[in-house]
Amino acid sequence: MKYYYREHILGYQKVKEEGKTAWAEIHGVDGFENFESRPFLEEILPQLHFSDPRPTVLEYGCGTGPGACFLSEKGFRVDGIDLIPLAIEIARVQAKTRSLDIHYEVQDICKLPHEGKKYDMIVDSYCLQGIVFAKDRERVFQNVQSRLKPKGYYLISTATFDESSFCRDKLKDTETGTIYNAYQEDKLIDMKTFIVYRRLDEKPDDWEDAVKVNGIWYLPVRRHWKPADLRAEIEATGFDVIYQDKVSGENLVCVIPTLPLSND
Ligand SMILES: C[S@@+](CC[C@H](N)C(=O)[O-])C[C@H]1O[C@@H](n2cnc3c(N)ncnc32)[C@H](O)[C@@H]1O
Repeated sequence: MKYYYREHILGYQKVKEEGKTAWAEIHGVDGFENFESRPFLEEILPQLHFSDPRPTVLEYGCGTGPGACFLSEKGFRVDGIDLIPLAIEIARVQAKTRSLDIHYEVQDICKLPHEGKKYDMIVDSYCLQGIVFAKDRERVFQNVQSRLKPKGYYLISTATFDESSFCRDKLKDTETGTIYNAYQEDKLIDMKTFIVYRRLDEKPDDWEDAVKVNGIWYLPVRRHWKPADLRAEIEATGFDVIYQDKVSGENLVCVIPTLPLSND
């Protein structure tokens, strides 16, 4: 199974077991409404221009739907997709409780077909940092481009490199020669790729992307680019980044560049 399933399968089992309603609630945040990208959305949405009074939105990695419900309450026509069936099950209940008409589906954004409904806006609320490898991230960006209307917006909130959790002490894997640094409590980071690895407690039979570092198994769990590298990656895939916040660099607004007329 691909690396990005593990923490999310376990996470939503915890959400259910603890009687919670959203991802953020198992990470110390109280309330369905307090999802992480909400301040960014509140700031940026009034600055965007839509020709349709009820624009269409796709949120991928929607989890149990706090962002999708927020957007639906603002008048957007919302579709939400997530990898984990349990997240979508809870999302449907949460939307129904609020009498919101949101269409949810279980779907891997890396496998979203190019043909299908086009959207005025596509939103990523802290999904992208868990999609680690270049080939998977390219698929995300290509799939978004295929489903965005020509004047559509692609809003991304994604974690970036956390300097305060970085440890300068290095660890060299004797087999491959790869050098890692300790990072964020129990993790390792490869500073050449900015890929973050979490230690596996169990045998990695199910996890095709597990790596062994000095005899201990790890699974890639994050891509924590520095803000300028994140922007460069997104621009290299063909988007224009028209906004990146100056504090953390983790909130971006991207658009598909419009071609000038040939006689311009
Ligand atoms: C950090 S959680 C955020 C969830 C939600 N956006 C929120 O704010 O509560 C990341 C979400 O992305 C989903 N996810 C991860 N990889 C995915 C993929 N390849 N396709 C679709 N969803 C994915 C996870 O299941 C999880 O719900």
